Amino acid sequence: MFRKKTLRDLDVKDRIVLVRTDYNVPLAPNDDGKTQSVASDFRIRASLPTLQYLLEHRAAKIILISHLGRPTGKDPLLTLRPVAETLAGLLPGTPVSFVDEVTGPEVEQAVEELPEGGILLLENLRFYPGEQANSADFAAELVAATHAELFVQDGFAVVHRAHASTSAITKLLPSVAGLLLEREVTTLQSALEQPGHPFVVIIGGAKVADKQPLIERFLPLAEHILVGGKIAADGYRSDDPKIQVAVDFDTDASGAKLDVGPLGLMHFLETLESAQTVLWNGTLGKTEDPAYSTSSTVIAKFLGEHPNITSIICGGDTTGFVEELIATDPALHFSLISTGGGAALELLTGQPLPGLDELEDL
Ligand code: 3PG
Repeated sequence: MFRKKTLRDLDVKDRIVLVRTDYNVPLAPNDDGKTQSVASDFRIRASLPTLQYLLEHRAAKIILISHLGRPTGKDPLLTLRPVAETLAGLLPGTPVSFVDEVTGPEVEQAVEELPEGGILLLENLRFYPGEQANSADFAAELVAATHAELFVQDGFAVVHRAHASTSAITKLLPSVAGLLLEREVTTLQSALEQPGHPFVVIIGGAKVADKQPLIERFLPLAEHILVGGKIAADGYRSDDPKIQVAVDFDTDASGAKLDVGPLGLMHFLETLESAQTVLWNGTLGKTEDPAYSTSSTVIAKFLGEHPNITSIICGGDTTGFVEELIATDPALHFSLISTGGGAALELLTGQPLPGLDELEDL
């Protein structure tokens, strides 16, 4: 059960609502060689249910805040302006504007000029040291400039950070969860608390140190843990009968093991046949090279074509990979494609999530 208030517990009508989103999205250079565009709108689309709720319930104005990348000071390559352009395309009929500041008179003016029912995206929060320093003054300046009356945390991917826009801000405004945050936390927690059985966890990726806590967390909860990816190729072993490590690999000319081989893949599929819940973190091969994406593709398609299986996809590389497959085959269905890489991992391994913990309790 989700134990925090959500925006459904608030009367948002005629209020100025500040929404923390995670628009930390990949960008690609435009032909002009100067500007950039959003290369994947996954996180932007994921924020739409909350924005649509606020629009339908007639919030006066919606002010969006986010970070992008890890800048040290202002960096024109990390402006959120392209995100505002993408968002405007996803919300036809809604005025969407952008201001290249976060606090101060320019923001105040932009908020004043924003029509009722409009959305204003502020500049990258991390251009200012107060954000990552979790500065109370910076949060207060943000509230003063925007005249925000309510705060909605919807940036699931950033709730593991104690920053001004996830922590300090909650001391200043009534602070509740958005619909994306609620959905992600509820789905991931249900995998920990009440998964349907057999429960199968698929672990891939590169670093054993990152994945070992996840394997340990799920050993008592899952019937099977399937291990592929570089960690399997590098020789990961376990005596635990629940842990099934890939038995063979596809290799390149130099012998490097770059994907789970046909026998390993067949064993994984046999185990998945009876699964009720599957949590997948980490691709099984070097998926950036199509020659070594076979096992990840086969497993993603298997899950996407079995809507009776609760399928939870998390981890940046895995979600990106699955999103690309959906782009070519939109019929594939997954229960949750998490927007949070680090945040999902920290939730699943029981780490504190300040951006969630500090919201109002139910
Ligand atoms: C992410 O992409 O995982 C989040 O946006 C958090 O970004 P960070 O790791 O730079 O804090």
